[in-house]
Amino acid sequence: MEKLIIKGGNPLKGEVSITGAKNSAIAILPATLLCSGTCTLHNVPNIIDVKLSCEILEQLGSKITWINKNSLLIDNRNITKTKAPLDLTSKFRASYYLIGAMLSRCKEIEVGLPGGCNLGARPIDQHIKGFEALGAVANLSQGKIYVKAEKLVGSNIYMDTVSVGATINVLLSSIFAEGTTTIDNAAKEPHIVDVANFLNSLGADIRGAGTDLIKVNGVKSLKDNVTYSIVPDQIETGTFMLAAIASKGDLTIRNCIPEHLDSLTSKILEVGGNVESYGDTLHVWSTNRPQKTVIKTLPYPGFPTDLQPQMGVVLSVADGTSIINESIWESRFQYTAELNKMGARITAQGKSAIFEGVEYLSGAPVYATDLRAGAALVIAGLIAKRHY
Ligand code: EPU
Repeated sequence: MEKLIIKGGNPLKGEVSITGAKNSAIAILPATLLCSGTCTLHNVPNIIDVKLSCEILEQLGSKITWINKNSLLIDNRNITKTKAPLDLTSKFRASYYLIGAMLSRCKEIEVGLPGGCNLGARPIDQHIKGFEALGAVANLSQGKIYVKAEKLVGSNIYMDTVSVGATINVLLSSIFAEGTTTIDNAAKEPHIVDVANFLNSLGADIRGAGTDLIKVNGVKSLKDNVTYSIVPDQIETGTFMLAAIASKGDLTIRNCIPEHLDSLTSKILEVGGNVESYGDTLHVWSTNRPQKTVIKTLPYPGFPTDLQPQMGVVLSVADGTSIINESIWESRFQYTAELNKMGARITAQGKSAIFEGVEYLSGAPVYATDLRAGAALVIAGLIAKRHY
C-alpha cells in the first residue's frame, strides 16, 4: 500500500500550475478511436488513469507515443480487436467510454463492467438507455458488457438523471448515427464541453454542449491528424484553492479556468477566504479561521461532489457548525471517519454530515477511501497542529 507522511502545521504558500483534466483526458483518449488516423493531444495529465487508458487502447490496436511529459501521439489506423482486456477495464471507471467510442467505430465492443472508486451504487442504465435508443443491443453477464449495433440511427434521448458519464458516452456513440440525436437533461460539466470541442475539431457536428440540450447531426467520417489541448483540471484547481484556505495560506494558481470554479469561489468568500482572478490565474489566500456554512453538492454549475471532501476539511476547523448535503454519491462521507481520527467532530448519516468545527486537527494514521478522500486527507495532514 502506498503511504504519504505529512508534517503539518505550515501555511501553504507559493505558485502552482494546473495540469490537464483527468476526467476529460480519460474520455478524450477513447474518443480518439473515432478518428481512423492520428491525433496529437497536449496538456495530458501524466497519471495512472491515463496510462491505464493508453494500455487498454494499445490492446485494441492503437499505437501511442509520449512525445513529451504531457503530450501523446495516438495512431488509431489499425484497431484490430473489439474485445477490451477484462482485467484492465474492470479496474477502471472510464472504461465505459470504450462502449460509445467502439460502437461508433466498429459497431461492437465487449468490456469488463467498469470499476472505480467506491462511492456507492454506480449504475450505467442511462448509458444503456442511450445506446439502445440509437439501435444498439446490450448484454450484461459474468462481469462484462457486450454491446452491438447493426446500424446507429439518431434519436431523442431524455436522461432520467443528470449523468456526466452517460452524456459523454451517448455523445460518443451518436457521432456517425444517421440523422440527428438529441440528448435532453444532459450534464454540463467543463469536460463535457471539452470532449465535444475535441470531437468538433475532428469534424463532428455537436451543438449545445455545456447546456442541458445537446444536438448531434451525424457525419460520415472525421478528419485525421488533429491536434488538441485538454482543458485544465477544475477539481485539481479547486483542491489547491481549498488547501490554501484550510492552511491559512496564499497560493497563485496558474493555467486554470477561474469561471469553472465559480460555485467554489462563492463558498470560499462566504467562509471568509479571499479569491482574485486574472485571466487564467487565481490568487487564493486566507488569514482567518473559516466561518461555518451550508453546502449541497449538485451537477455543474453547482458545487462539485469531487470537491466535497476537501471542503469538509475546511469546515472541520470552521468557527461554528456547518452542514454538507451530498446529492450525487451515497457513500462520499467515508473520509469523515478518518478526519475524526485526527480530532474532527463530524457526524455523517446517509447523504448528510454535520461538522462541529474544532480548533485544530492532530496527526494520525488515516486511510484514503477514494481519490478525493485522499486529497482531503492530504489537506488535513497539512493543517494538523495548526490552531484556528
Ligand atoms: N447515475 C445513474 N445511472 C447512470 C449513470 C449515473 O443513476 O446510468 C447516477 C449515479 O449513480 C450518480 C449520478 O447519476 O448518483 C451522477 O453520476 P455520473 O454518471 O455523473 O458520474 P460518473 O460519470 O460515473 C463522473 C466522474 C466522477 C464524478 C461524477 C459527478 C469520471 C470518470 N468520473 O462519474 O469523478 O464524481 O462524474 O461529477 O468522469 C472523481 O474524479 O473522483 C470522480 C468520482
